[in-house]
Amino acid sequence: MRILVLADIHGNWPALRAIVERERFDVCLCAGDLVDYLTDPAPCMKWFAENVQYAVRGNHDHAVAQRILPSSLHGFRKLAYITRPINWKALNTLQLKLLGRLPTTQQINVDGLSTYMVHATPKDSMDEYLGPDAEAWTKRMEGISANLAIVGHTHMPFVLDLGHMTILNPGSVGQPRDGNPDAAYAIIEDGKIELHRVSYPIDETLQQMRDVGIPAWAIDITATVLRTGGQVTKDEMLKYGPNDISEIETTIFAPLEPET
Ligand SMILES: [Fe+2]
Repeated sequence: MRILVLADIHGNWPALRAIVERERFDVCLCAGDLVDYLTDPAPCMKWFAENVQYAVRGNHDHAVAQRILPSSLHGFRKLAYITRPINWKALNTLQLKLLGRLPTTQQINVDGLSTYMVHATPKDSMDEYLGPDAEAWTKRMEGISANLAIVGHTHMPFVLDLGHMTILNPGSVGQPRDGNPDAAYAIIEDGKIELHRVSYPIDETLQQMRDVGIPAWAIDITATVLRTGGQVTKDEMLKYGPNDISEIETTIFAPLEPET
C-alpha cells in the first residue's frame, strides 16, 4: 500500500496539484492546516474531501472555521490577518463546517501501522512548535500507543526514530520554511518512509492572490516567503505593509468583511 502524507497545504492549489499530478497513492493522510496564508482554498478543500481518508484539525483550520482573526500582526500572523477573510469568502458553508469538525487527534490503523495523528503535539494539539527533538517527543508521546505519529505545524520536514515509535513531519505543501521552496510531502510504502519535494509554479499562486484583491505588500511578503522556503525573519516582516491592526481594519480589512 502506498500512503501519501500531507500537511500545511494552506490554500496553495498549484503546490497541492503538483504533488497529486506526480504521485499515485492508495490512501492519503493529512496532518492539518488546509487553509490560510494563501488564497485558493476551494480546490484544495474539494480535493481533500474526495481523496483524504484521515485528517486532523490545524490551528488555521480552526481559526478559519470559527471566524477568528489573529490578535496581533507579529510574524506570519500579518499574512494570516489579510488572507483569512478571503478564505472565508472562498469556502462554502459545508467546507467551513468540515474544517471545524476535523478531530484534533486521530488514532488509526493503516497498512498494519498503528498510527497517531495530531497537527502540533499531544500537549497542545494545534499550537506547540516542536522540531526533531527526540527527548521532547518521547515525553510528549508518553501514554500513546502507536508505531508511527504523523504531525505538521512547523512546516519543516523530518523523520525521527524514537526506538518504539517514529515521528513523521512531511513538511509543508503550501508554505515550506526549511529553505527549500518546493512543495513537501511524504510517501510510506511497505513501512518505509520517504520525504519528497516537487517544484510548482509559484507565480501562479501569486497571480491568484492578485486576482482576488490581496494588497501588493502582502503579495510581496508571500513572494519572498515562497521563493526562499520561508527564510524571512519577524524583523523583516515589519518592513512590509502596516504594523498596526487598526490600520488594516480601516484601510484594507473593512472591504473584506465576511458576509454573515
Ligand atoms: Fe501551518
